[in-house]
Amino acid sequence: MRKPFVAGNWKMNTDSSSSVGLAEGIASGVTETAGTKATVAVFPPFIYLQSVIKALGTSSISVGAQDVYFEPDGAFTGEISTSMLKDIGCTYCLCGHSERRHVIGETDELINRKLGAAIAGGLLPVLCVGELLAEREASKTNDVVTRQLKNGLAGLSEEKVSAVTIAYEPVWAIGTGLTATPQQAQEVHDFIRKLLAGMYSDELAGGIRIQYGGSAKPDNAAELMTQPDIDGLLVGGASLKADGFLAIIKGAI
Ligand code: 13P
Repeated sequence: MRKPFVAGNWKMNTDSSSSVGLAEGIASGVTETAGTKATVAVFPPFIYLQSVIKALGTSSISVGAQDVYFEPDGAFTGEISTSMLKDIGCTYCLCGHSERRHVIGETDELINRKLGAAIAGGLLPVLCVGELLAEREASKTNDVVTRQLKNGLAGLSEEKVSAVTIAYEPVWAIGTGLTATPQQAQEVHDFIRKLLAGMYSDELAGGIRIQYGGSAKPDNAAELMTQPDIDGLLVGGASLKADGFLAIIKGAI
């Protein structure tokens, strides 16, 4: 059985005081049952990672970074390495979020290097994939997801890939209020799982968690989670209020 994985991607939101307030609100509201039944994580901006980790205290909530650089150290102005993230207590990192692909311009090749460095350094990466609206309308969803997965995971052994979570985030559903229907999401999740089975093994594909992201909210979380291949949610806007995020966690378990 795959344990549900619900995560909040705070993107470039909050400030020093609201990030701590949000972390405290989530920590105080996550019941022991929810903490046991699901993996819960938050992805605050880099600059607030340490204060959020402190604010979460001994709660079961994990913390991850929204990005990572592939070099271990050196003259890479503005970048943050895996070892720095491990050093302050991060467990996860996002790789290839759609905003990094489409706003910042990250390529599959760069994402692959980041993912490899994260795994090698002991972080658990969440590889984000998903098609643009025009790609869906041109029936290219499966092609796009195949390219992003094959290139993103290129050169990594099955053992290394078992550290990865996949997040399917159709770009047209991110921040738009347009959620994929549970059936639309399930179709792609099923496709991804079968693709992974072909690339690695049934065992790997059966164990890997595939989150859905894109306008996940308290009122659609439970329905999305009824689908057999949706193993969790990567939540943007609705994770910025503790009550809403807690309701999503409740809906997901
Ligand atoms: P929204 O939930 O705001 O649509 O964002 C989804 C997302 O990009 C999470 O990484």
